[in-house]
Amino acid sequence: MGWHSQGARVTTSALRLDTVTKRFGRTEAVSNLSLEVARGEFVSLLGPSGCGKTTTLRMIAGLERPSSGSILIAGHDVSTVPPDARDIGMVFQSLALFPHMTVADNVAFGLRMRGRATERLADTIKGALASVRLPGFEDRYPESLSGGQQQRVALARALVTSPAVLLLDEPFSALDRSLREELTLEFAALLREIGATTVFVTHDQEEAFSMSDRVAVIDGGRLMQCEAPSQVFNRPASARVARFVGMSNLLPVTYQADGRILCHLGELPYQSGAGSARATLVGFRPDDIELGESGYGSAGLRFTARVSRSVFRGRQVQLDLEPERCPDHPLRMMVESGRSVPPTDSVEVFTIAHERLHLMES
Ligand SMILES: Nc1ncnc2c1ncn2[C@@H]1O[C@H](COP(=O)(O)OP(=O)(O)O)[C@@H](O)[C@H]1O
Ligand SMILES: [Mg+2]
Repeated sequence: MGWHSQGARVTTSALRLDTVTKRFGRTEAVSNLSLEVARGEFVSLLGPSGCGKTTTLRMIAGLERPSSGSILIAGHDVSTVPPDARDIGMVFQSLALFPHMTVADNVAFGLRMRGRATERLADTIKGALASVRLPGFEDRYPESLSGGQQQRVALARALVTSPAVLLLDEPFSALDRSLREELTLEFAALLREIGATTVFVTHDQEEAFSMSDRVAVIDGGRLMQCEAPSQVFNRPASARVARFVGMSNLLPVTYQADGRILCHLGELPYQSGAGSARATLVGFRPDDIELGESGYGSAGLRFTARVSRSVFRGRQVQLDLEPERCPDHPLRMMVESGRSVPPTDSVEVFTIAHERLHLMES
């Protein structure tokens, strides 16, 4: 009878950070960060330069000690475990292959560093190279490989010990854009195939969105939101995340006693209760504003505004708008270049569809 009693099903996450803080002198590089990564999950740490991403990875790897909080790998607190005894693999920003060593020796280094038995070494290396789609590359030297191939050797070296957690710190930032786009998708597919648990650091939101199961947005050492990519993009939890994912138009909202929600542009097309009661802002993207009345009727937000500036940006034209009801809250709009663009100083009607308006906390 007791076989399904409470607590019988213990799920151990591959990685758990529990209120981790890291201070360097007066700088708090990471603040009270808690994060759990499931086995086989791909989680990105996304945030601007200096927000604490690398410090977080280095603490997981054991290269930095947290000032407070704890880190668990496969359920075990690793606070006192040295880096080479932690069950992790790591690929750094600047790839660090040894130029004087063959590909096989570079990969073998991953095993030696961890003091793993070297019997059947050749087979293990062969397997690792096959898993990153570089079969037969054992005897090549790094200089004879493309940037993308070199990065895959670095990945093979990190994967060769079958680590519980794989840490990738902006591994593509040194590569040119087209190669980077291709490699991100290739790496993500490959790691999914292997079932690797991965923490991937990047400041590039497209990279994070295209690869991850969940994206952890970090700002100033703090975790702002950790959810599926589409959720972060479409439902940013706060103004900071919203700005970071391009939802740059933000206006304060007020709640009326009768349940109506107002912003400076007018009444929002929903009642309080529809959104979180704590929401204090409404946000929408520049390309969510449409010229004209559109067909939304009362299900959209309509306002008049003066076009104060128009900037041709190639595929799109940026319009800065001064709404008549709140000229001190300028809005930004993007229009496809081919479409008719109203001239500067004209006053027009604009509409935002109901589903493009997002309530959030400040
Ligand atoms: N060894 C260190 N000593 C002092 N400050 C550091 C050290 N490492 C990182 N920092 C500081 O911690 C903050 C976070 O850095 P980092 O984790 O490298 O950010 P990111 O990888 O997101 O760019 C920055 O302000 C950085 O200057
Ligand atoms: Mg970094």
